[in-house]
Formats: sequence, structure tokens, C-alpha cells
Amino acid sequence: MSSKQEVLRVDPLGKDLSALQKPADIIKNGGLVAFPTETVYGLGANALDERAVKRLFKVKKRSLNDPLIVHISEMSQLRRIVLEVPNVAEILADNFWPGPLTMIFNSNRAVADLVSAGLDTVAVRMPSGKIAQEIIRRASVPIAAPSANMFGRVSPTSAEHVLEELGGKIDMVVDGGRTDIGIESTVCDVTGSSMEILRPGSVDIDFLSKISGKDVVGVKGPTKLRRSPGNFPRHYSPRCELLVVERGPDQANDVIDKYRAFSEKGMSVGILATREHADMFPTENLCVLGPSENGELCARNLYAMLRDLDKRGCDIIIAEAVKSKKMGLAVMNRLYKAAGRGS
Ligand code: TXA
Ligand code: MG
Repeated sequence: MSSKQEVLRVDPLGKDLSALQKPADIIKNGGLVAFPTETVYGLGANALDERAVKRLFKVKKRSLNDPLIVHISEMSQLRRIVLEVPNVAEILADNFWPGPLTMIFNSNRAVADLVSAGLDTVAVRMPSGKIAQEIIRRASVPIAAPSANMFGRVSPTSAEHVLEELGGKIDMVVDGGRTDIGIESTVCDVTGSSMEILRPGSVDIDFLSKISGKDVVGVKGPTKLRRSPGNFPRHYSPRCELLVVERGPDQANDVIDKYRAFSEKGMSVGILATREHADMFPTENLCVLGPSENGELCARNLYAMLRDLDKRGCDIIIAEAVKSKKMGLAVMNRLYKAAGRGS
């Protein structure tokens, strides 16, 4: 951890959130602040300030053709940055905002050009995390916030994770403890006649489809998603290699065979196991994601455990697939990407 970095500890359940005026002012005046949302920690910059957004890309070493999500705290902010709000977006906003749903709109170019990476569209979400909401409200500007990690690495779910990669490089880290959901928001394009899921998250797709009354495309499987700009094949990655073992009757034996084969080559092997099989695995470098049916818990644990195994010096992590339903679908999407097998 960097000693230079200013860290502000805030209890998200506390009544007095006035301490958040300082990070809000830093962002409003062009600085960079990492803060928790309900999904992962974001690195926030004033979305109307081209220089601040440029510095954000530079600090993350993020490719300039990978657009950012703009975070808002009220609907009036949305209307100021988009060309129109389609009916379906009104309905989805009523049902899912504030919350972990990002929608893509046609942009009116009010936000800095870099935010949209040269596209005609802009991604917007209204987070439900109390700290995030309060910072946006007090800053009174829309806030562009990618996950607060170096480009291509695992998203942070605690302030410690942020400090490991960005400590000393940004203006403040707001520490609000572990994030609830643990993986990034669902990204959904609402500009066309059908709705397209560009990134699965914790929003239930069947419910989304029912509420919107629209066909939802792009959810058939983790590798079938349309390539969103900046949606690179290897993403959300630990430093070491990652291998995903598919679900099936021989799943546990498959993990054990692979574990032995890599160990015999002298490699240090970590296992990211499901609760069902964890007791069968012969290694100290073991993390238990959760029961394979419990997508919520697996999502909450995923990134912290990938980081943990990485830090223990594993050369390779063998990860068991979980049930690819509801939130398990998003967990599998991130696991495939971390393994370099995403779309
Ligand atoms: O949960 C989250 O969404 C977190 C927290 C901090 O809010 N943020 C996050 O941001 O995950 P980031 O930058 O790591 O991911 C943004 C995703 C990328 O996959 C990007 O391609 C997509 O959103 N995106 C942004 N603008 C887009 C646009 N105009 N069209 C299509 N995809 C877009
Ligand atoms: Mg990210």
C-alpha cells in the first residue's frame, strides 16, 4: 500500500455522509477519486471535464477506444447528456435504477468526447450504493467511472485492491468496505428495436425482458455476446494463467488430474473450487467460491479470490465452472474472460 495516498474511511450505513463533500469537490474540480459502488470500486472523474477524463485513461493505462460509463444520481442528469430517452429506458429506469444496470443511449455530446471514445452513444447508470450516490449528488456533475483497476486486470471489490494498483497515483480513495455485488453492472443497449446485452451482470435477464416487453439478444452464452468497444478477449485477469474446467459428471476428477499434471511440471497450482467439491482437492492454495447454484455468493467472492490466489504466487489457477444461470451466467462470463476465452 502507498503511504502517500489519501484514504477516507466512511461507514456506508452511517447517518452523516458529509465527509463525502471533500471527494465530491475533488472530482468536480478535475481530480480523480476511487469510491465504492454496489458492484465494484470505480475511479471517478468529472464527465464534463476532458482533461480529467484524459488523466483517468492515462492512470489506468486504458485504451482510448474503450468508452466509460457515466454515473448519475437523478434522471434530470440523464436528460442533459443524451439525445432522447426511449420509452423502454424510462421503464427500465423505473424498475432498476438506482442499481447495477447500465444503459447505452444516443449521446448529445455534452460529456467529454473521450468518455464515449468517439462513439455516438453514451453508457449511463445510476448506482444504488449510498457512498456513490452521495458523491455524485454533492459533486452535482455526472461522473465517468470505470472500475478502479489497471486496464485488463481484475476489478477491485475493496479499498485495499484499489490501493494495490492505483495507490499514490490518484487524489483520494474512499474506503467503504467490501462491495455487495462483486462484479460489474449489466450493460444493455436500448437504442435499437430489440435490447442487446453487451455485458451480463446481476440483473435477471428474464425479468428485464418481461419488464421491457422487448426481445433481449446477446445472452445465449458468454462467447456469443456482441463485441462492445473495449470488450477485449482477455480481461478481468489475474497475473497468472487461469484454466476453467467445465461442468460435468467428471468435473472434480478433471480438476484433480489437471492439478497433478501441472504440479508434476513443478508449477504452483491454485484451485478455485465450488463448495460441493472443495474437500476433495489436495492443495493449500484453495479458495471456495461458493455452492455452484449460488451465483450471488460466487460473484461476491470471485475477484477477491482471484487476487488472493495470484498473490500467493500461483503459476496457474484451475477454476471450476459454476451453474450458468442467472448470476452464474455473469460469473462464467468473467471467468472465461479472465482465462482469455471471452468474446
Ligand atoms: O459496475 C460497473 O459498471 C462499474 C462501476 C464502477 O460502476 N464500472 C465498470 O466500468 O465496470 P468499466 O469501464 O470497467 O466497463 C465499462 C463497460 C465496457 O465494457 C465498455 O465497453 C462498455 O461499458 N461501454 C461503455 N460505453 C459504451 C458505449 N457507448 N457503447 C457500448 N459499450 C460501452
Ligand atoms: Mg473495468
